[in-house]
Amino acid sequence: MSVLIKGGRVVTAADSTVADVFVEGERVSLVGTSLDVEADHVIDATGKLVLPGAIDPHTHLDMPFGGTVTIDDFTSGQTAAAFGGTTCHIDFAIQSRGQSFSAAIDEWSAKALGSAVIDYGFHIIVTDLEEGGTLEELALLPDRGVTSYKMLMAYKGVFLVDDETLFEVMQLASRTGALAMIHGENGEVIDVLVKQAVAAGNLAPRYHALTRPPELEGEATNRAIQIAHLAGAPLYVVHVTCKEAVDAIAAARAKHWDVWGETCTQYFFVDITDLDEPDFGGAKYVFSPPVRDKSNQPVLWDAVRTDVLSAISTDHCAFLLDGQKTLGRDDFSKIPNGAPGLEERLKMIHHFGVNEGRITLNRMVEVLSTNPAKLFGLYPRKGTIAPGSDADIVVFDPNRKTTLSAATMHGNQDYTLYEGTEVTGDVDVTLIRGTVVVEDGELKVEPGFGQFVKRARFGEQLL
Ligand code: URP
Ligand code: ZN
Repeated sequence: MSVLIKGGRVVTAADSTVADVFVEGERVSLVGTSLDVEADHVIDATGKLVLPGAIDPHTHLDMPFGGTVTIDDFTSGQTAAAFGGTTCHIDFAIQSRGQSFSAAIDEWSAKALGSAVIDYGFHIIVTDLEEGGTLEELALLPDRGVTSYKMLMAYKGVFLVDDETLFEVMQLASRTGALAMIHGENGEVIDVLVKQAVAAGNLAPRYHALTRPPELEGEATNRAIQIAHLAGAPLYVVHVTCKEAVDAIAAARAKHWDVWGETCTQYFFVDITDLDEPDFGGAKYVFSPPVRDKSNQPVLWDAVRTDVLSAISTDHCAFLLDGQKTLGRDDFSKIPNGAPGLEERLKMIHHFGVNEGRITLNRMVEVLSTNPAKLFGLYPRKGTIAPGSDADIVVFDPNRKTTLSAATMHGNQDYTLYEGTEVTGDVDVTLIRGTVVVEDGELKVEPGFGQFVKRARFGEQLL
């Protein structure tokens, strides 16, 4: 099977040129002007952007959390992703306490097998080095293509790991060629603040943010950076939300330390006042780290523009407002943490980032696709459009207007954080490994099409 994408503006992290893209089988074989080739399928991309498929390095599909399970499984979450121009994502396989690391990867692989419609990989979340997994076993995961170890400094009693574990796993990462990742919030102090708020009868959604202040994100982020530096490990800080954490990352990067940070779409657009939405509507905005004061939003845009932050993910972790978020109707600390975002990310960042002049089109491609690919061992197979790369391509109409609404989205979510938002720019066609996955508003593949990607070690290429 061959595909010719004709006459679009091909945009990579570095270039932007009107060209044809010729795909043979699963990979791009030629990029050039007026290609004189025959193809089985021709897509006229005149006036459109031809982008490398977006890569989301931070998702939670089919994840038990907060007394329930995220509403999107691999099929529904990835269908939403494909309609939103995301062609590959890396989900978190969680080691439960007492479980071996390989059993955790097996468990998550079983969730995706036969269900996937886009390509995917896994990070491991380390929760326990005493009764379950051992460092020796964790050292073997990169051989399985799981080349990133995440630790959470928050969620005491659930995911939180102490500094000893943080340090030992980071030392291991420096030896095995894995990338250490952290959720940077001081979970010990948060736990005290939450208990105090509940005891005082402060139970509304807004207390979710008030018990997780930005100082605690700044402190944990800086602590992790210092520990990773001592361990000699590269570090990736997930979902950065505030100036305190941005400053810690900027200081490390100014010293050329191996530290990278991501933020997520939602932190540019929703803020602490949204938690006061009436009729328990504030629960839609309960995720961690929490929504912040609006003054942080220009700080985040600036950090993305100036390469202090290197990626924008979704942290897609969808719960129904009606039936799941309501578990915490009488107590904010029982609201399952998380929100959807897989389908919205590219359109929101294109409209409010590129159309409104905050970042360039090349930078958008870099933070949504190329950098995640490079940092997580997918590049140059994924994250660019070049001869030899997987034909993971989005034909994007930069002029088509659309209004975001949960009613027309493709996951199982019953709300979007951006309901009613009008954006200019929409996905026309999504191809993965040369196969049309979304076209004419329809999903064209069956569950099982998406493949596990065995990622390369940190700093190595995936050819
Ligand atoms: O609230 C969130 N973000 N839920 C998912 C787990 C995490 O903290 O990333
Ligand atoms: Zn997350």
